[in-house]
Formats: sequence, C-alpha cells, structure tokens
Amino acid sequence: MSKTGNALGSRTLDNLAPAGQRVLLRADLNVPMQDGAVSDATRLTRLAPTIRELSAKGAKVIICSHFDRPKGKPVPAMSLRPIAASLAGVLDMPVAFADDCIGPVAQNAIAAMQNGDVLVLENTRFHAGEEANDPAFIGALASLADIYVNDAFSAAHRAHASTEGVAHHLPAYAGRLMQAELNALDTALGTPARPVAAIVAGSKVSTKLDLLSNLVGRVDILVIGGAMANTFLAALGHDVGKSLQERDLHETARDILKTAQGKGCEIILPVDLVCASVFAANPPTMIVGVDAIPPDMMALDVGPATVAALIARLPEIKTIIWNGPLGAFETKPFDAGTNQLAAAIADATRAGTIISVGGGGDTVSALKQAGVEHDVSYLSSAGGAFLEWMEGKILPGVEAISAGMSNIG
Ligand code: 3PG
Repeated sequence: MSKTGNALGSRTLDNLAPAGQRVLLRADLNVPMQDGAVSDATRLTRLAPTIRELSAKGAKVIICSHFDRPKGKPVPAMSLRPIAASLAGVLDMPVAFADDCIGPVAQNAIAAMQNGDVLVLENTRFHAGEEANDPAFIGALASLADIYVNDAFSAAHRAHASTEGVAHHLPAYAGRLMQAELNALDTALGTPARPVAAIVAGSKVSTKLDLLSNLVGRVDILVIGGAMANTFLAALGHDVGKSLQERDLHETARDILKTAQGKGCEIILPVDLVCASVFAANPPTMIVGVDAIPPDMMALDVGPATVAALIARLPEIKTIIWNGPLGAFETKPFDAGTNQLAAAIADATRAGTIISVGGGGDTVSALKQAGVEHDVSYLSSAGGAFLEWMEGKILPGVEAISAGMSNIG
C-alpha cells in the first residue's frame, strides 16, 4: 500500500503554526463545469476546511491547482478564474485571483496579501514545466511561499511540479482532505476489520488487471460486476450472447480465479443478469440465469437473485470497498442492481455493522444517483488516484510529503 494517514506522522496541520507565513496550498480545483459554471462543487466543499483553518490561523493562503489538460500552454477556456469565484461562494469569503501561477504576476498578488487572505493562482498546467516536474518551474513555484500544504489527494498519482516536486523544496504538510482520504483508505485496506470485501465492476477487465491482481491477495471476498463480469463468465464457459466482453482475456480471467483460490479469496460472480437486445433507455428486458443468456441479447445489469445473494452476505462483512457500478447505471433500468446494493450497504453502515468506502470515477456518480453518498463511511473525492491506491501503487504526491520532511525538516 502507499503511505497511509498514519504514515503522514507529524506532517499534518496539527503541527503547523502558519501565522504570517505564505502557504502554497496544492488543491484539486479540477471540478466538473457546464456552460462556464461549476456543476459539481464537491471537491470545493471538501477542500474548504483546510482553507478556513489556514486562514483562521493567520496564513496567507496561496492556492495552486491544475484544471483540465491544457498541455503546457494557456487555454482561456481552462482558466481557474470562474472556479476561484465559485470557491469564494463556498467559503463565503473573498478570494483573489492571479493570472499566472509564477513570476511577477503571482509575486505581486502575493505581496498584496494580508494574513488570513486567500488567493488562487492560474492553472499550473498552462506551463509545460508542471507536468514535466521541471526544476526551474518547481523553483519558481517554491519561491512564492514559506510552507507547502498538499490537499490534492485526487492528483497525488501525478508526479508533477506542484504535486510532487515542490514538496522537496519547502517544509511539506498534508491538508485535512488529504489526511481524511488516507485515513479512510487505510481503514478500508491497510488495516481493515475483517472479513473485508471489495466490489470491482466496470466495463473492462483490461483496465482493472492491476487492481484485481492486488485485491485477490488483500481481501477475503471479491465481487466482480459490470461488463467485466461477462469476460469471467465467458472464460468459465458460459455463452454471454452479444454482451460486451474481452475474448482475449479469458485465460487471464481464469488465472485470476486460480490465484484467488490459492490465496483464500472468494470470488463472487453474477448468478443472473438483466438482458436486452439493444442498449437504450427502457427497452424490453429479460432476466435470465448466467447459463441462459439468449444469443441475440446482451447483459446490462446484474439480476435480482445476484443482488439478493450479495445483500445476504452483508451481515458477515465488516469492511467493504467499492469501485465501479454493477451495471450500465446511467441508463434506466440498468441502475437497479447498483441502487439496491448501495441502499443495503448504506443501511448496514448506518446500523454500524459495516465500514464502507467508495471511490473512483463512476462510483461516486453511481452512489450519488442511488442517493446514498452521505450514508457510506467515506466517499473519496478521487478518481484515478483512488484506483492507483487500490492497485497498491505508490502515490508520488503522498510519498513526497513524508520524503520531503527529511530534506527540509
Ligand atoms: C482527477 O480529476 O482525477 C484529477 O484532478 C487528476 O486529473 P488528470 O487525470 O487530468 O491528471
């Protein structure tokens, strides 16, 4: 596993006295936008406690972030200016904006700050040095501040200048969101209450091979859903009709099943499926057992017997980690399996019998759509970083916080 919340040791805001200091706060302001406005402010609201705390303690809070993928040059449509305005609304306090993240524009804006003020710098990815983790760009960023605080867990899988490089040049600390994410992930997979189950779903086995390989050695029960379950079912000899599957991965799927068996990890595959002839909203559907998928139909969700069987297992499970919806949840009625299981996990979480952690791209949307985003123990704000953490990979942005301290103190 990558560094955990505990491994942050003293590098948290509890041990930082930032009054009068210039704090470079790496945030993840890469939020969904629609028609020029922020359409989902979750990442901003999750970030707010760190900003408020630093500001209340008298720091000059200088926020930097990437937004989208401008590929090293300024792209006006990818400016952070409108997001800074939304952040001001979330914080209910003034937020200044600088049109560049380094150089005289940034320096002048910082020189005008009072203790407690908040400033957002323009998109770090407008400079090629950001993604290249270039020493000159790192130096220019580091020269703006006295202290570095990283609260961008969701960008911690990138070894970029503002997520990794700068941590080696300033005393580095984790913000409250970073700390919370790492604590939650540690609870779920680092030192979990057992039995621990993982739900891994999504369209392709090929994109989750590292994940499956890591999890079979770490969890007691692995539930496989989504279209990737079709590949496993086909590998076991079932005819999956027109269902999405990866034929070239049958051997790999069988290897994963064999490894799981050797490691004492129980793999649960669907026993029934909701099928349709076309992938469209509300088409005629048919519920069939996995050995009765009609040749001209495709599986688009797990069936009721599968959901009932999964729900029946919940009382014995102490920790559950969820990545990926069980079916094509954005198109009705193929959200039913995901919604029913999500509701049951939310009930068990509320009753205190299970610790539930979800994260990664579609999972957050699916749990929100199921109306349970506030009823799981922790819902990560991260997409790719959550996945890489679950894969057992080192996250450079997390690593650099503790590595940086030996250089700087
Ligand atoms: C995310 O939204 O997952 C992070 O902000 C990382 O964005 P990226 O994939 O463009 O690096």
